[in-house]
Amino acid sequence: IPVDTFDLVIFGGTGDLARRKILPGLFRRYRSGQMPEAARIIGVARSDMAADDFRQQIGQALEEFVEEGKRSANDIAGFLAHLDYVRVDAKGTDGWGELKGKLRDEAVRAFYFSVAPGLFGDIARGLHKHGLAHDETRIVVEKPFGHDLESAKELNAGLAKYFDEHQVYRIDHYLGKETVQNLMAVRFGNILFEPLWNAQFIDHVQITVAETVGVGGRGSYYDKSGAMRDMIQNHLMQLLCLIAMEPPSKFDPDAVRDEKLKVIRALEPVAKNDVVRGQYVGNDAVADYIDDVENPDSATESFIALKLHLANWRWAGTPFYVRTGKRLRARMSEIVIRFKETPHSIFGADSGSKANELAIRLQPNEGMDLRVTIKEPGPGGMRLVDVPLDMTFAEALGPEASEVPDAYERLIMDVIRGNQTLFMRGDEVEAAWAWADPVIAAWEDNNDKPRAYDAGSSGPEDSLALLHRDGRRWREIKV
Ligand code: BG6
Repeated sequence: IPVDTFDLVIFGGTGDLARRKILPGLFRRYRSGQMPEAARIIGVARSDMAADDFRQQIGQALEEFVEEGKRSANDIAGFLAHLDYVRVDAKGTDGWGELKGKLRDEAVRAFYFSVAPGLFGDIARGLHKHGLAHDETRIVVEKPFGHDLESAKELNAGLAKYFDEHQVYRIDHYLGKETVQNLMAVRFGNILFEPLWNAQFIDHVQITVAETVGVGGRGSYYDKSGAMRDMIQNHLMQLLCLIAMEPPSKFDPDAVRDEKLKVIRALEPVAKNDVVRGQYVGNDAVADYIDDVENPDSATESFIALKLHLANWRWAGTPFYVRTGKRLRARMSEIVIRFKETPHSIFGADSGSKANELAIRLQPNEGMDLRVTIKEPGPGGMRLVDVPLDMTFAEALGPEASEVPDAYERLIMDVIRGNQTLFMRGDEVEAAWAWADPVIAAWEDNNDKPRAYDAGSSGPEDSLALLHRDGRRWREIKV
């Protein structure tokens, strides 16, 4: 879908996120012909810099963060011609007038707050006070959206003073991932799955987001957050919502977000022995967590596994096991829907029949596979085996059609289109914190220490036991 001409202002335009994700994402859209000719991207930061210097900095970032072969010098020069720069003092009065002078009435106007959340309120106020915002102006904010319920409410209130909810785009980049959107296409575009999508037919669900990276380089942020705040409260929660929600009546922002909110509100409090926290221990090649964050006494988790229950008709009795961690064996994110066994095996108990399993791979090798039972070929009688019906997108659709856009590309274009479906509403974020806060408080009150796990492993042993004790097992973390 083409987008209208826009003025996109990026506060924090020289920052890490802008250089790594936002501008490379916009560049890819430019290359695929999706950027209107008159579109303008204005970087804003505190330092005094000529627009040409900004363009040069971003040119370097593109060389660094866009794959070779997908950036010709010509393309880069063409894209940089859309860029401009203004110095603004977010807390003061400098620069706002100049910025205002650059904005056009006829263009879609969006402000991306790619800055620490402590500045959200100041920028919102500045935009309002200096007359840069009108009723259709959009603002984009990123996590960490709060540290707990109270701080999230404050951030929401700070924005709500100047902007209506329909103007606020809270990014959770997991919602921009291609496979995550495919999850909705599979659930609601096929008759096959939805009739079975409930506790009667689904034994349990697993969500794994495993990373191989450590926290070096962003230790001071991470050590105050941990895996629960950094990943579960937002990214894994969003995945859980899309799996568990009722079918919205249409694919429209409030219809979808209303259903997601109901899921979060249906989450039961988490029992103490349904949480396993871990902290990695390094080896010859990589450092210990405590060294990465330079805090020898740290009790922050770099891994967490939880068993969750939803108190509603659809899911009563079907647990959701979720886990995420750093420095694990492989970078692998997937959702596994484990169906129940057939109620009766006509082939006998030892025929080899297995329960169906639908795996949705977010990364790498985006795709899905459905394990089904068939007869083992040969004359040896009715021996059954389970085989995958493999839907690796690159194979099914060809490498061109399945080229996976980066999450940010999709989301920034949705901001320009004015489509909030893949963004979090304020009440969703607050509900997620309202659920997470007591879980965190419980371990803080008990002075709980995370269990050690080896870098390069699948996390602490106890996280395997979380399923073993229920007669289940995690899918292996491997590529
Ligand atoms: C971020 C977290 O939101 O998501 C990081 O702060 C994490 O700690 C990252 O590494 C994971 O994103 P992706 O897209 O690489 O899976």
